Amino acid sequence: MIDTAVSHTPTCKVVNLSPLRIPEIQRNPLAFLQRSVVEHGDFIHYPLGLWEVYQLNHPELIEHVLVTNQRNYSKNTVQYNTLAKITGRGLLTSDGHFWRRQRRMIQPAFHRQRVLGWGQTITNATQTMLHSWEPFVQTGQPLDIDEEMMAVTLNIVGEALLGLDLQAVANKLTHAVLVLLDYVVYRSQQLVALPLVVPTPRHRRFRKGLQMLDDLIDQAIRDHTQGKGNPDTILSQMLMAGDRETNERMTRDELRDEVITLLVAGHETAASGLTWLFYLLSQNPEVEEELVAEIDAVLNGRLPTTDDLPHLLAVERTIAEALRLYPPAWLITRRATAADTLLGASIPANALIIMSPYTMHRHPDFWQKPDQFYPDHFLPASEKTRPRYAYFPFGGGARLCIGDQFAKVEMGLVVTAVLQKYRLQLLPNHPVVADPLVTIRPRHGMMMTIHRR
Ligand code: HEM
Repeated sequence: MIDTAVSHTPTCKVVNLSPLRIPEIQRNPLAFLQRSVVEHGDFIHYPLGLWEVYQLNHPELIEHVLVTNQRNYSKNTVQYNTLAKITGRGLLTSDGHFWRRQRRMIQPAFHRQRVLGWGQTITNATQTMLHSWEPFVQTGQPLDIDEEMMAVTLNIVGEALLGLDLQAVANKLTHAVLVLLDYVVYRSQQLVALPLVVPTPRHRRFRKGLQMLDDLIDQAIRDHTQGKGNPDTILSQMLMAGDRETNERMTRDELRDEVITLLVAGHETAASGLTWLFYLLSQNPEVEEELVAEIDAVLNGRLPTTDDLPHLLAVERTIAEALRLYPPAWLITRRATAADTLLGASIPANALIIMSPYTMHRHPDFWQKPDQFYPDHFLPASEKTRPRYAYFPFGGGARLCIGDQFAKVEMGLVVTAVLQKYRLQLLPNHPVVADPLVTIRPRHGMMMTIHRR
């Protein structure tokens, strides 16, 4: 059956929010956003004293902010300002002229052809991980798949980005990135926080993590400039890139900010997507069987390569469906730089705009089975019936995720290689709770046992 999208244009509803509810919102922002759209609809205005907050949950509204009038919406929000404490003026958090210049310089490194060139790196990292699973297969000991996915995606992006000898530095890199992410989560949950110069244990850990990462990046830059580095890494591309309009090159600090941005943006997102995908497959064996049949038919036992991905269509649909139900980037925020009109409603300058792929992706007007794992949502006939911005796991418009192709290739190769060999089963009674941190993470990890096919 094909989806029939019954889209009615939403009108803006004003909802007064008691400040007493702020702790509840901080405790579980995802539950709050979901409840709000159920109770108040797809276009909500919360007048909060000096803050005018708008929650948008309709494809037309999202398209307006991300695409049609995107120049009016900046990233000057708590979400991005907090991230900027570790990513500086990197692509994810910068704005305006500076952002455009950086995007022009970095974009070529993410050209599809270049991304396909990372296939072997992805496959090697995955095979190393699968070998390390063997003792768990033999003993039946469970493994935290979330941790495994965090490690493998960090190895992949670390190698593609820096070409570091990961065996030597993987632990340092993982430690530094996790410490930084821990700080971002902590900081985003505090309404008022001490300045970073106050030497609390968390602040000291954070600064040490940042220093560790700085040192690794310096080492990689030195290797590259001395001709020792791999010339294909994203860092090499960035070192060589000059802006075609201004002929400028990036400074050391700009490079550092971009490298940290890509490490942070490119690792936990893909890891979260993969973890939830393996969870969903463990709960839906019929979907898993379909994938395994496709993988066996296409690969006939050999290791997957990027050339196989266009033939693994059920795999592709399943990944898209996992990113629908658990979009790693569950919250996208913007600040209106000038007043605007949104579907007839006036938006004042400085308004905070909140858009959640999580709630949009579960909207019953646009999805045939909103809360079920149903990869057929992504059959071409179904996709045609949906407005473009009913689905935006990678954002959209000029600020579309620069790593979307990288992530799709990475997820495709990792899932294929795992399913080809193993079946992952959720440990009975393991509590699965979606925690909306920087990405959506399983609060208690994802403990699974691994079984040979
Ligand atoms: C499943 C994996 C991923 C998801 C769901 C995801 C999601 C997103 C989203 C939603 C945005 C837009 C944020 C906004 O508009 O406010 C974004 C931006 C970005 N992503 Fe990703 N991402 C993923 C993987 C990656 C990877 C692998 C990389 C790099 C290796 C990456 C690098 C970036 C960067 C640099 C930006 C900022 C782009 C700009 O504004 O110019 N992402 N991502």
